[in-house]
Amino acid sequence: MTDTTTDSDQTRALRREMVTALVNDGTLADDRWRDAFLTVPRHVLVPAYYQAGAHIDCDMDRQRWLELIYSDTTLVTQRRPDAVTSSGTMPSLVAMMLQALEVQDGHRVLQVGTGTGYTAALLCEWLGSAQVTSIDVDADLTAAARNRLRRCGYTPTVLTADGAHGDPERTPYDRIIATFAVASIPPAWIDQTRPGGIVLAPVFSGLAKLTVTSQGHAQGRFIGPGYFMRHRATPDAQTDGESVAEANERHWPQRTTELPASVYYDSDFRFMLDLTMPRLSHGNPGGARNDLILHAPDGSHAHVDAEGALTQSGPRRLWDDIEAIHQTWRCLGAPPRERFGLTVTPQHQTIWLDTPDSDHQWQVG
Ligand SMILES: C[S@@+](CC[C@H](N)C(=O)[O-])C[C@H]1O[C@@H](n2cnc3c(N)ncnc32)[C@H](O)[C@@H]1O
Repeated sequence: MTDTTTDSDQTRALRREMVTALVNDGTLADDRWRDAFLTVPRHVLVPAYYQAGAHIDCDMDRQRWLELIYSDTTLVTQRRPDAVTSSGTMPSLVAMMLQALEVQDGHRVLQVGTGTGYTAALLCEWLGSAQVTSIDVDADLTAAARNRLRRCGYTPTVLTADGAHGDPERTPYDRIIATFAVASIPPAWIDQTRPGGIVLAPVFSGLAKLTVTSQGHAQGRFIGPGYFMRHRATPDAQTDGESVAEANERHWPQRTTELPASVYYDSDFRFMLDLTMPRLSHGNPGGARNDLILHAPDGSHAHVDAEGALTQSGPRRLWDDIEAIHQTWRCLGAPPRERFGLTVTPQHQTIWLDTPDSDHQWQVG
C-alpha cells in the first residue's frame, strides 16, 4: 500500500500550482492564508474519493488521484446509495470562507463539519492546534480525520457530535465556521460566540456572515453562494429535504409554462426559491437541466420538460407557486444573494432584503 503521508517534490509542486492558480484568479488574496494553503498536504487528508461514481485512491492511479486532490474540485469522500454524506470542499470555497472569517492570532475557532479535516488543518496551520475544535456527526469521519491530521502534525480537538449543539465545553469562541448547510442558524452557535465574534455558515445556498452583537443576537449579510450538503442530525439520518411524503395521486390539469426548467439553476433565483420554498429536491430524468422534476416534502411534484410541457401532482401546484415566486423576485430587481441579510434573535430569525428594516422579510427556522 502506498504511503500517502509523504510530501514529495511532486505533491509540493502540484500544491504550488493549485495555490498559484487561486492567487492569480484573485481567490486567495491574503498572504498568510496563501502560506497555509501551500503548507497543508491535502493528499494526506484525502487518501481516496469518488469521481463520476468510480472510487479513486492512491494505490490505483497515483497520478490521477493527486491531480484532482490538487485541483479546485469538491471531492466526494463518503456516500450512501441515496446521498453524498461527506466531501472535501473545493479549495477556492474554503479559501473564500477562511478569509471572510477574519481570524487573528490567539483566536479560538470552532469548525463544524470536519469531513476530511482539510479546513481544520488550515485553521491549525494559522492559529495553532490548541486554538481549534472541529466537530463531525460521523464517528468514522472524526476518527479518520483525527488520525490523518496527526500525521500532518496537527492536533486540534476533534469531537463526534451533532454540531448544531456547538461545543458547550469550550465556550466562548471568537469564530464559528460551518461547512454544512442549515435552514436557520442553530442558537448554540450564537450563544457560544463572544460578542463581536463572527459566525460564518451556509444558510440554504448562501454564506451568511454574522457578527454576534449580544447574548443570543447576531446580524449580517450573505457574502456569496455556498452550496453545501445539508445538516444531518445523526450519521444515519435522512438529510433535511430528503424526506418526501408519499406521492399523492391528485393530478392537476396539464399545461405549458413560459418559465423554463433551467431557472432552477439560476444561482440568484435559487436563493430566493430556497427562502420561500425550502427543502425541494430535484431530478433530471433526461439528464439535461431543461428537463426537471421537483419534489416538495408535502408530496407535491412538478415536471417541466424541454418544450415547457408541465405536469403537476400532489396537494398543491408546485410550479404555479414557483412561477409566482419568480415573478416576485423579478419585481424586486432579481436580487442576488449579496443583497440579503439575516438577523438572529432568541425568538426569530429573519432574512431581509437590503436593510434589516426592509419591507421584504422572510422568517426562517
Ligand atoms: C462538506 S463536508 C465538510 C468538508 C470539510 N470542510 C472538508 O473540506 O473536508 C460536510 C460535513 O458535515 C458533516 N455534518 C453533517 N451534519 C452534521 C452535523 N449535524 N454535525 C456535524 N457535522 C455534520 C458531514 O458528516 C460532512 O462530513
